[in-house]
Amino acid sequence: MDKTYLEQLCQELLKTEKLNDTDNLVLRFSLQGKTYQQIATSCSYDNDYIRDVGYRLWRKLSKQIGTKVTKKNLLSVLQRYTSEDRLESPLTLSSIDWGTIVETNDMYGRNLELNNLKQWILRSRCNLVGIFGMGGIGKTLLAARFAKECQTEFDFVIWLSLNKTPAIETTLTATVNYIAQQQAIKITLPQDLNEIIRQFTYYLRQFRCLLILDNFESILRAKKFDNGSWEHNYRKEYQGYGQLLETIIDYHHDSCILLTGREIPSNFVSLSRNSPLVYSLTLSGLNISECQKIIQLAGIIKTSDTSKERLIEKLINYYGGNPLALKIVATTIVDLFNGDLEEFWHSEVRLFGEIQDLLDQQWQRLSDAEQDVMYCLAVARAPISLKNLEDNCLSVSSRSQLVTVLQSLKHRSLIARNIKGFTQQPFVIDYINATK
Ligand SMILES: Nc1ncnc2c1ncn2[C@@H]1O[C@H](COP(=O)(O)OP(=O)(O)O)[C@@H](O)[C@H]1O
Ligand SMILES: [Mg+2]
Repeated sequence: MDKTYLEQLCQELLKTEKLNDTDNLVLRFSLQGKTYQQIATSCSYDNDYIRDVGYRLWRKLSKQIGTKVTKKNLLSVLQRYTSEDRLESPLTLSSIDWGTIVETNDMYGRNLELNNLKQWILRSRCNLVGIFGMGGIGKTLLAARFAKECQTEFDFVIWLSLNKTPAIETTLTATVNYIAQQQAIKITLPQDLNEIIRQFTYYLRQFRCLLILDNFESILRAKKFDNGSWEHNYRKEYQGYGQLLETIIDYHHDSCILLTGREIPSNFVSLSRNSPLVYSLTLSGLNISECQKIIQLAGIIKTSDTSKERLIEKLINYYGGNPLALKIVATTIVDLFNGDLEEFWHSEVRLFGEIQDLLDQQWQRLSDAEQDVMYCLAVARAPISLKNLEDNCLSVSSRSQLVTVLQSLKHRSLIARNIKGFTQQPFVIDYINATK
């Protein structure tokens, strides 16, 4: 979740407490996962003093939230607090209100991907782009970075997370209302979805808009392959989002919908095949040197010790260069293992907290056939050929069903293909072997 938003939330909760600069620093750095020692070093304060400031902050926050807050559980308590809050809160749109969007400064690598987005959206003026990939791989950060760097190219940049699964009517009405308000235009919005979409496309033609729909998978159906076929995979009440994607490429305009998601929507595949105005980007893990920077930022100091460097590389490969997993692991190594990589590695506790949650979420969305194929791959612990999978996955009835399932798993970024066969990330293999 966006740290700047959480920081503002805490400041709002503690507004009667008149936080000073040090309070704000400790709050910000703690939300970024920094240790007290790192905070003290970066602002040249005494470690005990910073720790004290932290204790006081958590006590005050505990009182406001009504739950015990500690430095360790800060993020999870705030996330729970905001998601409870969300149930009643109306849909909020942000237009270039970067205060509510992720902090984009610490982004390593992704230059190629960022340039692709610029090429497609700014120069080719395409209308629809999807950024796909596993949870934690960096989709939101990349979309935010693109939007931030290129905001001046657009009349409106609107950011909307579909986490709260708003109805398509709500999303479009809020967007159109927002644009109209900014232009001081009075409008009456229709009730009918086709009419709302029509009005929305009218504004896309009038103004150059970038509409970012983050967490698009929230409105897609889980377990779509139970009958083994490739179906339209929007949740019943969210089919309108599919209709929206299909409609916006039918009109001539310079606006763009940029969506991010853990899964590729089924109609997106055919749209990108048939239209030159639709592009997609599937993010894979960061490379070793980019991951090393993430690990260092969390407080693991770079050394010339080759065995330590080798262990870091092992860690990076294990988590497939997933920045979120590496951030969590590196912070845990600093906080609980005193920075000792070897001790962490030998503890064999590698799937925990948010990493476990992330894998649980992805796993629970799989159909029986998909889980079965994932399991066959995980048991083998080595690349497997199509033929081999066919012989081993008993629940898959035909080769064509197997291919469909593999395609779906690929669209969810859960498997990859190399010259020897189909593969999974080592941490995914361990997760499945421990789950099944
Ligand atoms: N290229 C990157 N460099 C540094 N940190 C990154 C990078 N990509 C992602 N992160 C960090 O990893 C975490 C997950 O990224 P996020 O964009 O939220 O992933 P996703 O949207 O794919 O689930 C965030 O804390 C983010 O700041
Ligand atoms: Mg995201």
